[in-house]
Amino acid sequence: MKISPSVLSCDYGRIAEELKSLEECGSDYIHIDVMDGHFVPNITLGAPVIKCVRKSCSLPFDVHLMISDPLKYAGDFCRAGADIVCFHIESDSDAGKTVDKILSCGAKAAIALKPATPAEEVFPYLDRLSMVLVMTVEPGFGGQSFMEDMLPKISAVRKEIERRGLDCEVEVDGGINFSTIAKAAAAGADVFVSGNALFSSPDRREAVEKFKSTAEQSFKKDLDKFN
Ligand code: DX5
Ligand code: ZN
Repeated sequence: MKISPSVLSCDYGRIAEELKSLEECGSDYIHIDVMDGHFVPNITLGAPVIKCVRKSCSLPFDVHLMISDPLKYAGDFCRAGADIVCFHIESDSDAGKTVDKILSCGAKAAIALKPATPAEEVFPYLDRLSMVLVMTVEPGFGGQSFMEDMLPKISAVRKEIERRGLDCEVEVDGGINFSTIAKAAAAGADVFVSGNALFSSPDRREAVEKFKSTAEQSFKKDLDKFN
């Protein structure tokens, strides 16, 4: 079970310190939301900022590209220090070529699915992915409510991974809190993005520990259903 805090909720003016604090509180990845104001109605940051903050933190950077043309920019994000480059299957880029590009640059490839996109869309690329990201809110903004109707999609992705014996993580992003994390884990997710819930916790270390133990218990309980 891994926790990937979303820096979308952090104070961007103190991003280096925030990354250090997230590392110290037991996070596994750092989730960096890249928005281009075109694929989603919001703009955040790009590869130059990622390159600058790379030296502040040794955790893997899990870079979530909410941009229209990930094929064009994937190389920049890899060179900036992204460890996992995740792009949306609904983007304008050819998904197969984008996966090839990311892998050829030495990063791990991941594909994200918006709420309306069925799980099956990602299946043709699954054997080359290290992670599938199931969005549990419409991408673009933090602080939204978890969409429970995405739970069957999380299970469908997990089941296909298990059926094919692949080493691929299932990440959930959007509205994760202490109650929704249990549901997502029970459905088969093993990487959890948290923005608002984690950043509004008085003690981040305690929050990360609680997230992990809750996910661990819930995932184990329901693992049988994937066999
Ligand atoms: C939304 C982003 C998320 C967001 C999650 O488009 O992809 O990563 O920061 O924030 P919370 O956990 O607040 O929903
Ligand atoms: Zn995200």
